[in-house]
Amino acid sequence: VFYVNGVKVTEPHPEPETTLLVYIRTKLRLTGTKLGCGEGGCGACTVMVSKWDKEKNRIVHFSVNSCLAPVVSMHGYAVTTVEGIGSTKTKLHAVQERLAKFHGSQCGFCTPGIVMSMYTLLRNNPVPDMESIEKSLQGNLCRCTGYRPILGAFRTFSASKNGCPMGDKCCRNKPSEDSKQENGEQQEVHLEDQTDSFSQQYDPTQEPIFPPELLVSKAESDVSLKFVGERVTWYRPTTLDQLTDLKEKFPDAHLVVGNTEIGIETGVKGRCYPVIVTPASVRELSHVKTDNLGIEIGASCILSDLVERLKGIVDERGQNPTQALSSMLEMLHWFAGDQIRNVAVIGGNIMTASPISDLNPIFMACGATAKFMLHSRGERKVPMDQTFFPSYRKTSALKGEVLISVRLPFMRQSEYMKAYMQSKRREDDIAIVNAALRVKFHDGTRKVEEFSAAFGGMAATSVLAQHTMTNIIGREWEDDLIDDVAQWMREDFCLEVNTPGGMVEYREALALSFFFKFYLHVKDLLFKDGISGEKISPEEECTKVPLGGNHHGSISTQTWHEVPDDQPEDDTVGRAVPHHSSQVQVTGEARYTDDIPPYADELHMWLVTSQRCHAHIRDVDIKEAMTSPGFVTYVDHRDVPGSNITGVMKGDCIFAEDKVTCVGQVIGAVVADTYAHAQRAAQLVKVSYEDIFPRILTIEDAIEHVSYYSSANLKVGDADAALKASDHVLEGEMRIAGQEHFYLETNGCLVIPKNEFGEIEIFSSTQNPTDLQLYAAEALGIDINKVVVKVKRLGGGFGGKETRFLVVSNPAVIAANKCGRPVRCILTRQDDMLITGQRHSFYSKYKVGFTKDGKLTSLVNHIYNNGGNTADLSLSVMNRAMLHADGTYKIPNVSITGKTCKTNIASNTAFRGFGAPQSLFIAEDWIQKVAARLGMPPEKVREINMYKEGDTTHFGQILTDFNLPRCWRECLERSNFEERKAKVEEYNLANRWRKRGISCIPTKFGISFGLTQLNQAGALVHIYKDGSVLLTHGGTEMGQGLHIKTIQIASKCLGIPVSQIYVSNTSTETVPNTAPTAASVGSDINGMAVKNACKTLMGRLEQLKKTNPAASWKELIMNAYNERISLSATGFYKTPDIYCDWNKETGECNGMPFNYFTYGAAVSEVEIDCLTGDHVVLQTDIVMDLGRSLNPAVDIGQIEGAFVQGYGMMMMEEPLINEGGSLITRGPGAYKIPGFGDCPRSFNVHLLKNSKNERAVFSSKGVGEPPLFLSASVFFAAKNAVTAARKHSNLSGEFRMDSPATVERIRMCCGDKFTSQEFSPEEFYQLLES
Ligand SMILES: Cc1cc2nc3c(=O)[nH]c(=O)nc-3n(C[C@H](O)[C@H](O)[C@H](O)COP(=O)(O)OP(=O)(O)OC[C@H]3O[C@@H](n4cnc5c(N)ncnc54)[C@H](O)[C@@H]3O)c2cc1C
Ligand code: FES
Ligand code: FES
Repeated sequence: VFYVNGVKVTEPHPEPETTLLVYIRTKLRLTGTKLGCGEGGCGACTVMVSKWDKEKNRIVHFSVNSCLAPVVSMHGYAVTTVEGIGSTKTKLHAVQERLAKFHGSQCGFCTPGIVMSMYTLLRNNPVPDMESIEKSLQGNLCRCTGYRPILGAFRTFSASKNGCPMGDKCCRNKPSEDSKQENGEQQEVHLEDQTDSFSQQYDPTQEPIFPPELLVSKAESDVSLKFVGERVTWYRPTTLDQLTDLKEKFPDAHLVVGNTEIGIETGVKGRCYPVIVTPASVRELSHVKTDNLGIEIGASCILSDLVERLKGIVDERGQNPTQALSSMLEMLHWFAGDQIRNVAVIGGNIMTASPISDLNPIFMACGATAKFMLHSRGERKVPMDQTFFPSYRKTSALKGEVLISVRLPFMRQSEYMKAYMQSKRREDDIAIVNAALRVKFHDGTRKVEEFSAAFGGMAATSVLAQHTMTNIIGREWEDDLIDDVAQWMREDFCLEVNTPGGMVEYREALALSFFFKFYLHVKDLLFKDGISGEKISPEEECTKVPLGGNHHGSISTQTWHEVPDDQPEDDTVGRAVPHHSSQVQVTGEARYTDDIPPYADELHMWLVTSQRCHAHIRDVDIKEAMTSPGFVTYVDHRDVPGSNITGVMKGDCIFAEDKVTCVGQVIGAVVADTYAHAQRAAQLVKVSYEDIFPRILTIEDAIEHVSYYSSANLKVGDADAALKASDHVLEGEMRIAGQEHFYLETNGCLVIPKNEFGEIEIFSSTQNPTDLQLYAAEALGIDINKVVVKVKRLGGGFGGKETRFLVVSNPAVIAANKCGRPVRCILTRQDDMLITGQRHSFYSKYKVGFTKDGKLTSLVNHIYNNGGNTADLSLSVMNRAMLHADGTYKIPNVSITGKTCKTNIASNTAFRGFGAPQSLFIAEDWIQKVAARLGMPPEKVREINMYKEGDTTHFGQILTDFNLPRCWRECLERSNFEERKAKVEEYNLANRWRKRGISCIPTKFGISFGLTQLNQAGALVHIYKDGSVLLTHGGTEMGQGLHIKTIQIASKCLGIPVSQIYVSNTSTETVPNTAPTAASVGSDINGMAVKNACKTLMGRLEQLKKTNPAASWKELIMNAYNERISLSATGFYKTPDIYCDWNKETGECNGMPFNYFTYGAAVSEVEIDCLTGDHVVLQTDIVMDLGRSLNPAVDIGQIEGAFVQGYGMMMMEEPLINEGGSLITRGPGAYKIPGFGDCPRSFNVHLLKNSKNERAVFSSKGVGEPPLFLSASVFFAAKNAVTAARKHSNLSGEFRMDSPATVERIRMCCGDKFTSQEFSPEEFYQLLES
């Protein structure tokens, strides 16, 4: 029994294996809560749980990942989902309203989870500070917004107020009337000013009450429970005796509290544990007790409760004795997100025995003791020393023992302790290496009496650095200790090159760096305590303060210029109108593919995919699967009635026949009655293989084996001759990793066979309905007119749903056809990442010629991209890369070759930018190196070489309305670049282990599809008798605001308010033969088609309007109807003039492949920690030329979102593949996209004023992809900071830093005494490559 949104739910047969998420979505049909990952890493499934807390004697509210919470664990609790707090039918909750008004929801898939995290915070703290707000969001991810608008929306609940970085120059400081008169120009508009008003203040007294029945039955938690399911029995004992008895009876049973470890094994990995016992109701296990000597923490103590208790104890007893507790608090701040901390317990962390547990090193270093109990024998105390974790994921617990508690001693006099960790992402990420260090001195001296150093991430278990611990005894805490400790620790941790987890050099350097930080920390304390006469040097003071400055308490602005004064109020083009679906998204009412209610006879499909990257299929054995419950059928290539060949270049198979060419390739699919049954049966399908060699996985492998899909040349002038004649020639290479799309909604579809004339209807999350329709028809061998594809909205696409949807849609179509029943297939996050391809990794080897003044004379660039096992869009991606290889610079002689590598990894595909970001990146890399070679500021080299109005590109397109120099200058000015650069230099002189860098990067992005025929669009506009308008066009809504922009266009053309126009969905029934929604042309081409349709309609109404000019719109339409005038029109548009004569053999190219270019510039300032490689983006300023923006709020959202996505690509995200060709980085646990904490602390976006673009609808410009590359400003700012660090180690000149600039690369490129040898970047890269 539990409550959901105030309604009692009684489940007579609760299934222990069912999660709360599955229960509320499928049984209760509350689909607002989303499945984003199933592993606690994205927060899309967040709900609030409320319960009566016996210890606290009050009701408590906490956020929970419902994807990990077993529904049986909810007994006696009240659950609130996004539907329970507000709705469009009644009233939006203040959290929902503000998020919608602040444009904080784009695709909306993350939104309900984010709403619920914030809502839970408000239930506990109605006026939170920004720190609490950010902490509450640590466990939520968003891939669209870049986080700034969400933080902006929620800041309104806090007391803090925003400002503007322009300071006194801010337009808001001028009286508006005066400034208008002064310059006679449009006003600058602050987005925030447009969104400051809410219909409601937040009133916590209006929140729903806790169900009285649950209060009455407080004693429920004293009742022991047993739930028996299909495969699993779940026990909830209430006494220690019952608990230990059960564990002794079932020694292999897991004791599950938070289920944050076990839930991943049972969910994502599909394991089954037949007996589960939850000790959550056993009081003896959740206590926290202190005495004079230390603290005892019960094994079932929940981490967030523990944080509160520890804070209280630290306050009460003071800092010195509680240093171990402060270390725990520091670690727990970064430990997962609130949703995990609210349920996970300390015992789960210890007993999982993870080598990267954040808490175990602290326990080991402080000399903690674990208390176990065996029912038949009683208690046993075990010190947490080097024997406690005997091997990987093992503890010294005996069979049947229960962990009761852990006891930590208080620190004594002259004793110091601190913990450190470094992860790929600062928030919600497990450590690469963590450490807890403790030293005790002989009283009144700095002579070491005791020393402990425990590390995680340095071995298969948490370990003590024993050699170091022994040798250091008796030594004075003096600077000469550092070199000795470095030597001893290298002996303690001599990691093999092939150590699991990799990053060997980095991990060793981190361990030493942590010791060094600890050394300085203690040295400082010894000085303060009057024991050591030596102060740490001013240059080293920086290690004491946290990286960066304030968190997002600082200022961000988003500005543009107001529409002309004479623009009618009803004409919303150019105004900040909220997203079409924002209100239904924030309330969870928005429907995505998997939210479609189940059909009565619906089946579920699970793909059987290859586990080998290159092999013959010897046999597929489905016998065992067929006996699995709910099994219906297995489909493979023999079931395809049409063609098994599919895809853009006809290079894909729907099902592999006798050979597989990548891990994750679809071999077959199991169809079953439920999702869970389909998964279980699919796991029982046995495929045997015979490996084929070679396995070609990387670009280097492809070069070695000459394995290419294509090779193309692009030339102007004579690059080789020009190189010879140049004053300087620079050679370099750069590798840019791929990137996972990580749209929050995975690929999925629901296929409904109509069983009449072979008709079939498909609901999908594709951004390319027409190709899905085509592939389905080809697979079935039927005409396209029998297939209808409908797309309501996507939870993000970014190119990942442009073609690779086919790995799901085609098998589902075959399965539905075979069964004659609806088939649903929604990929898990892990499968989606494995199967559907990513952004292409790139490699470039270049030579650049230039004069002694920095003027470029020649570029020779060999570019490679990793296409994967089928060609898909890889050749087009390479074409775009080659066309953007000039960056923003005029180079008289250019020779580019582009090779697309054929490899044995999942086919790579479109991703926002489509090859251009990689190519632009390479261009900025050589610019930066030219500057380094000449000792010139990189900005200067950029300015000298930047194109000018009327220049011709290397592919023969003339640049007109070339606004880049304006963006560039304005960005430098608005960001106060010169002054800040001087300050950065000052800062770098004053600090040894922290460095800052600042960089300004320009961008020029060509707008159009590479394939001319794709540059067309259609629209269909119906006006109904009541005057309301139904708009359809060929584009899909994936969060980018396409629907609202087309509504604004229609509203302007028809002269009616946006509220009268509606877009329902995208369907191949209404607009045929559409281009994919991609290439940043969605609004350009669909908007024009809509405009043309509206023009036709207005033409038909013209006479009537003239006859009765006073008629309202409604009257006009009724008159037209009575006059039998057609109120429905199609519109069509094709982009004019574009062409490209490119001879890929000779390299000659002449044409106008792009309709126009979108320009922008960004300045970013970054601070790095030279000892760990960590970084923070202090400020980013962007100026973007979007012509006359159709909707500045939506466009700024695109800029911010693209920027943060690009930031992920360049600073953090790195897909890793093992030597068997299997993607290791699957799911948010292993693959880190930026989180809230990674958003620049001050993030300012401005749209260039007085820009026009006659080549697109209402003078606007495409925005989806162009801003992504601007995040290179962060990369190069970080590189500049690294350059400053290298100067200290006497390392000068250019150096190679590949993308992404992960913590590892930044640290290793800094190069100092803690990196193992005399630093050589080439050696480092050779090591990485090996
Ligand atoms: C998204 C995410 C982020 C995470 N981030 C971090 C992080 O930053 N740092 C980190 O260290 N960990 C992290 N973890 C790991 C995990 O959350 C912790 O290890 C947590 O403390 C486990 O507690 P639990 O109650 O959920 O364990 P459960 O999954 O319930 O149980 C885990 C194991 O502990 C055993 N166990 C539990 N209690 C007892 C007992 N009393 N006696 C004997 N055995 C027992 C169980 O049998 C089981 O084998 C993360 C996990 C997720 C999903
Ligand atoms: S779906 Fe639960 S955290 Fe991602
Ligand atoms: S709006 Fe956050 S993931 Fe799309």
